[in-house]
Amino acid sequence: MAFISTGYNPAKPMENRITDIGPKDYHDFYPPVIANNKGKWSHHEILEPGVLVHVGDSGDEVYTVRVGGCRLMSTSHINEICDIADKHCDGYVRFTTRNNIEFMVDSKDKVEPLKNDLASRKFAGGSNKFPIGGTGAGVTNIVHTQGWIHCHTPATDASGTVKATMDTLFDDFQQMRLPAQLRVSMACCLNMCGAVHCSDIAILGYHRKPPMLDHEYLDKVCEIPLAVAACPTAAIKPSKQTLANGTEVKSVEVKNERCMYCGNCYTMCPSMPLADTEGDGIVLMAGGKVSNRISDPKFSKVVVAFLPNEMPRWPSMTDAIKKIVNAYSNGANKYERLGDWAERIGWEKFFSACELDFTHHLIDDFRQQAYMSWRQTTNFKF
Ligand code: HEM
Ligand code: SF4
Ligand code: SF4
Repeated sequence: MAFISTGYNPAKPMENRITDIGPKDYHDFYPPVIANNKGKWSHHEILEPGVLVHVGDSGDEVYTVRVGGCRLMSTSHINEICDIADKHCDGYVRFTTRNNIEFMVDSKDKVEPLKNDLASRKFAGGSNKFPIGGTGAGVTNIVHTQGWIHCHTPATDASGTVKATMDTLFDDFQQMRLPAQLRVSMACCLNMCGAVHCSDIAILGYHRKPPMLDHEYLDKVCEIPLAVAACPTAAIKPSKQTLANGTEVKSVEVKNERCMYCGNCYTMCPSMPLADTEGDGIVLMAGGKVSNRISDPKFSKVVVAFLPNEMPRWPSMTDAIKKIVNAYSNGANKYERLGDWAERIGWEKFFSACELDFTHHLIDDFRQQAYMSWRQTTNFKF
């Protein structure tokens, strides 16, 4: 029999039902050295790219080896992570807020064997399974989204663009040669699941065509007022439409010249799809940050209006990203995040330093606050 019951009884779905138990208490998963020194850490050091040491007031030390993770991973890969943790770390391991993996050991002599083991593991195609790095002033993992693996609103792919970009920036994952840490993030539509609005460099999926309207089904599958209210530019209004067979139906009308292809109506209404092979592509943004270090947190700004989706390696996109990273690493002062640098030299100099075209698309035209992004001073550089 192919079907194997877990013991759940579909005839009595609420019987023996366990609910609202929440996540496991994280204290259950602490390595002993973490549990013993919790709240009593004295200082830390980055010994080399990917390797940290934290020293407790007690003198205890914990060495952390950080490795890249592809975020989307199979259970066999997780089993391999567990095997490594069992072999070197008494079965303990953790994942970071950027989906890197951290293996911790409680003495220095355990670091080299762990590193050697991690570095030796490769996939059949040659990619590193557990590349060591992601610390200090370098490029760490790219926070990203679902893409064509699982979402229905993307304008590009997440895993693919991220693999292409990490391959391009891989040296900087394993080094700490930049002025400050550089956060790259990716979202496949402008719902921006994740961190694109607040990252040093952000990759964003972008549409360039208004939605198609499936009048026959629209009123059957959509709550029309929600679709109307979904539009940030009020391009949608309710309308009556006559189908080919003469039937009059309730639907919507889109004023195409008011539509800026956000896709929000499709999120509300399945009869308004807008994904398009040639139309869809990539926008690059830059200069965001979330920390309070010296400057306040910043939003990232649009710096490249459109790059085509070029599966499977997105060469135009990775070239543009490389140019931005090089210009930043050559131009910025120590501790300056990309946005700190761009604001200090002026965005007009950012565009020439990065050899990026400035087009009318980059000028804010959304409502009243757009005015504040224009230049109201004669202070500028030729
Ligand atoms: C050597 C003489 C002068 C110098 C160096 C000078 C300098 C300046 C400067 C630096 C500004 C500010 C510009 C800005 O921030 O955009 C300004 C604004 C202004 N100046 Fe002069 N100025 C001079 C003579 C005059 C004279 C003789 C008048 C009037 C008869 C005048 C009337 C104004 C006015 C009305 C503004 C404000 C303009 C605006 O906000 O649109 N200035 N001036
Ligand atoms: S960013 Fe958009 S397309 Fe990507 S996972 Fe989130 S909602 Fe889906
Ligand atoms: S795609 Fe966005 S701007 Fe265009 S009609 Fe839909 S909600 Fe409005």
